[in-house]
Amino acid sequence: MAKILVTGGLGFIGSHTVVELVNAGYEPIIIDDLSNSNIGILNQIAKIIGYKPTFYQFDLCNDADLQQFILKEDNINGIIHFAASKAVGESVNNPLKYYKNNLYSLINLLEGYKGKEVSFVFSSSCTVYGQPDELPVTENAPVKPAQSPYGNTKQIAEEILKDAVSAGSAQKVISLRYFNPVGAHPTALIGELPIGTPQNLIPYITQSAIGKRGKITVFGNDYNTKDGSCVRDYIHVVDLAKAHVAALNLLGSGFKGYDVFNIGTGHGSTVIEIITTFESVTGIKLNYEIGPRRVGDVEQVWGDVTKSAIKLKWKTELSIENMMLSAWEWEKYIANNPI
Ligand code: WQD
Repeated sequence: MAKILVTGGLGFIGSHTVVELVNAGYEPIIIDDLSNSNIGILNQIAKIIGYKPTFYQFDLCNDADLQQFILKEDNINGIIHFAASKAVGESVNNPLKYYKNNLYSLINLLEGYKGKEVSFVFSSSCTVYGQPDELPVTENAPVKPAQSPYGNTKQIAEEILKDAVSAGSAQKVISLRYFNPVGAHPTALIGELPIGTPQNLIPYITQSAIGKRGKITVFGNDYNTKDGSCVRDYIHVVDLAKAHVAALNLLGSGFKGYDVFNIGTGHGSTVIEIITTFESVTGIKLNYEIGPRRVGDVEQVWGDVTKSAIKLKWKTELSIENMMLSAWEWEKYIANNPI
């Protein structure tokens, strides 16, 4: 059974990907430093897959710990690299933390597996596009100057990976540019666990709906969109997790070199549409107001996912309604089962 290292494997996308790896017959090995995740998720994953996956707790920036891991787990077939800091706002206030953590951990991993025949899947982001000139945005669109140090680390990381492949120190690498990951596993046993006040829209909505937060603020309704609120391409986290399995399958089928894929639905939804969809599928009236625009927000972005459909043989299957309902079921689960 092919062993896949999942860095950040106890995080939101990482945990769902661990489950889909097992469903696809892979053996996940998790590294997580628990700086932005919860050890309880390991038990939750076990409830879904029937066993507790191999887990190591250490920081990938720690050279000695990583070397020790590489010696111990000496037959890794692939790596899915999620581990990174990901709060856009925090990155503006603490850029050095982001450049060090997000880039040094990647460089350490690439150094550690230099010259080895391992597949490498990198967690990138639609953030690299900024506000695209044309929509839907394709993978050939120009990468715009990053709007935050976080977004810059994703852009720089993609360049590092391309150069590593060109130099032959990495053989086969795919970057997946995620759009907006939302929702939760259908068992409601794993989902998004924001620490503190959620920065992202959907966890804020579910926490407001369950009474943990007050009024939702819609950050601006004066944009040039159908109802004035921003447009995003929201993708179910389970569909996103399956895209990583598709990428591994492609990397394991004779692929050589570097490539990048948009991972989204190919459709955009406004903030107001998300709110009304949540209300319609849950029957809950949300308490929201229109507030000022949020600095750094792009007006509208959604992906062209043709290349993923053709080359990855992957496309999304789950609806916006399912995203909202699964996020709500998860919120209710953790209200009664603190992790
Ligand atoms: C979505 C929309 C807000 C909260 C994030 C990450 C990005 C990438 C994708 C990983 C925006 C609006 C939000 C609220 C609101 N992830 N909003 N009220 O900013 O599109 O991107 O996910 O790579 O790095 O930052 O997601 O959920 O914060 O915002 O009106 O309380 O919801 O203005 O239009 P974003 P988000």
